[in-house]
Amino acid sequence: MKPESSRSVISAKGLTRVYKLGDSEVIGISQVDLEIAAGELVVLKGNSGSGKSTLLSLLAGLDRPTRGDLTVANHDLNDTSDADLTHFRRQVVGMIFQSFNLLPTLNVLENICLPALLAGKSVAESRPKAMALLEWLGLDARLNHLPAQLSGGEMQRTAIARALINDPAIILADEPTGNLDSRNGQIVIDLLAELNRKWDRTVFIATHSTLADDRASVKIGLKDGMLTSLP
Ligand SMILES: Nc1ncnc2c1ncn2[C@@H]1O[C@H](COP(=O)(O)OP(=O)(O)O)[C@@H](O)[C@H]1O
Ligand SMILES: [Mg+2]
Repeated sequence: MKPESSRSVISAKGLTRVYKLGDSEVIGISQVDLEIAAGELVVLKGNSGSGKSTLLSLLAGLDRPTRGDLTVANHDLNDTSDADLTHFRRQVVGMIFQSFNLLPTLNVLENICLPALLAGKSVAESRPKAMALLEWLGLDARLNHLPAQLSGGEMQRTAIARALINDPAIILADEPTGNLDSRNGQIVIDLLAELNRKWDRTVFIATHSTLADDRASVKIGLKDGMLTSLP
């Protein structure tokens, strides 16, 4: 029997996203072929404008490919209804952004529970899970605070908890350390690595920082929208 970790969780073939701006076209990514097994920690490197966010948005089901095939966690993202895509975004993937994207009027606990509520769970159901995540992330003293009362590192850890509340198989992080100092950036990378190692989640980090380099089990690069191999 194949070990669990050899299952393909991301499979892309000729994946292309072209943005149309009036009469002109801008290539986001072009002809990307990718096979990622479950349980990998993927680090995606590339300069600004190389297509990292475009690729992550496609993997997260936030955007649809222009051409090519894309299957993520057994979901064919070329051929999904809007309703299935909404389910996919909420339950199958967890996304972390550079700018945290917390809702300013909700406290830490409410921000974390929001995706669970949107997925139809009650507060009573999601609260114990949220509390366990807060404890793991060292935020248990912060649950009643608003985002504006947190440091950048605390905001990103809150966003990690929010990404995990629905138990996604895949965590996608788009420049998760981009707004953090190097110490807090390293804490966030260490947490994502722990998530990968101990909790067996597939973690996909797009970054142009070097903080995650030595944690990667797979390193890939993008240049002008095309995949490049990395040493
Ligand atoms: N919504 C959009 N409309 C038009 N062009 C876009 C859009 N998003 C990204 N692009 C273009 O696609 C290319 C890749 O961008 P992006 O994926 O954001 O790269 P990165 O995340 O590596 O900085 C860039 O040329 C960028 O200008
Ligand atoms: Mg980007």
